[in-house]
Amino acid sequence: MTIITDIEDLRVLHQKRAPRMFYDYCDSGAWTERTYRSNSTDLQRIKFRQRVAVNIDQRSLATTMLGQPVSMPVALAPTGLTGMQWADGEILAARAAEAFGIPFTLSTMSICSIEDVAARVTRPFWFQLYVLRDREFIERLIDRARAARCSALVLTLDLTILGQRHKDVKNGLSTPPRPTLANLLNLLTKPRWCLNMLRTPRRHFGNIVGHVKGVADTTSLAAWTAAQFDPTLNWSDVEWIKKRWGGPLILKGVMDAEDARHAADSGADALVVSNHGGRQLDGAPSTIEALPAIVDAVGPRIEVWFDSGIRSGQDVLRAVALGARATMIGRAFLHGLGALGEEGVTRCLQIIRKELDVTMAFCGKTDIRDVDRSILIDNGRLSA
Ligand SMILES: Cc1cc2nc3c(=O)[nH]c(=O)nc-3n(C[C@H](O)[C@H](O)[C@H](O)COP(=O)(O)O)c2cc1C
Repeated sequence: MTIITDIEDLRVLHQKRAPRMFYDYCDSGAWTERTYRSNSTDLQRIKFRQRVAVNIDQRSLATTMLGQPVSMPVALAPTGLTGMQWADGEILAARAAEAFGIPFTLSTMSICSIEDVAARVTRPFWFQLYVLRDREFIERLIDRARAARCSALVLTLDLTILGQRHKDVKNGLSTPPRPTLANLLNLLTKPRWCLNMLRTPRRHFGNIVGHVKGVADTTSLAAWTAAQFDPTLNWSDVEWIKKRWGGPLILKGVMDAEDARHAADSGADALVVSNHGGRQLDGAPSTIEALPAIVDAVGPRIEVWFDSGIRSGQDVLRAVALGARATMIGRAFLHGLGALGEEGVTRCLQIIRKELDVTMAFCGKTDIRDVDRSILIDNGRLSA
């Protein structure tokens, strides 16, 4: 039995257990993958100030996101095709997050549907919306999320066209996988995945198949995205969606101070500094590079959250120190899920909590809400 001590251990096991096309879908960035890589490497360059002889006996990681209590400043980010990393993946991840006291976000492009997840958890989760050309479908999706008691809408702004990920093109990514020789040979090496998948009926885009005309069972993600995603999306659509939804709204994918001001003006409740985990615009800065200017631009007018590149509790602390109220994690929890199912997501969250807690203590702080730039060497400035 492998002993799991960090997110990297979960990643290695995920790679071993999930079919190549789905592992690659997770562990890839756009084009040269420079932005994808720099998200993590820039975070790791930020050093902590170690403090001593401070009473660090009683510590708390608890805070709030949108006024709701969370056990640590981390939410599970929306990720498409999660039910292909492990059968029923969205339901399992939602349950793990619920037990841990942190929010789960269901993607528009999930395998398990909104209603399916809602029936299997006890607390409300969040729903992530992609804006598609078919506005009636969007209205129905918003209504479905409300009917399923979703407590916040996460509107993703940075995927109105698809940034190319070479591996997905080469693998011919589709769900479920097409029965090509290469796929069949690869599946033969993944018996646990195959068995779990045979036991579940959930193998298609649960929110879409059966709800949109012309979407067949086996869907090429790239073709569907090209046809359906709406590149005309602009701030007046954000206003329309906010009105239609009527609840807490989170704008995800902001990388520029000027856009952050628009986000604050739009009346949204939170924005997520995110470059989609380096999956969209290759050549964009890392999110930790972009964060300080955005915090300075919109300050307390709107909650500023952070994602992309987090692979440890130390990374969460770095983002919080640089002004993020909270963070979202994508690949870290997907690695847990693809390695060990629900137990793996729980393991991922335990690892992050421990690393966050111990690092905060070494920095001489006892409450995550008191963490600021002063815990970082040189206030966390990234030298060239
Ligand atoms: C496999 C995968 C699928 C994703 N699908 C979505 C999605 O459907 N909607 C969305 O808003 N973001 C999506 N994202 C982006 C994540 O929400 C998040 O911004 C990103 O994973 C953060 O970077 P990290 O993976 O380095 O933590 C996806 C990311 C990954 C890795």
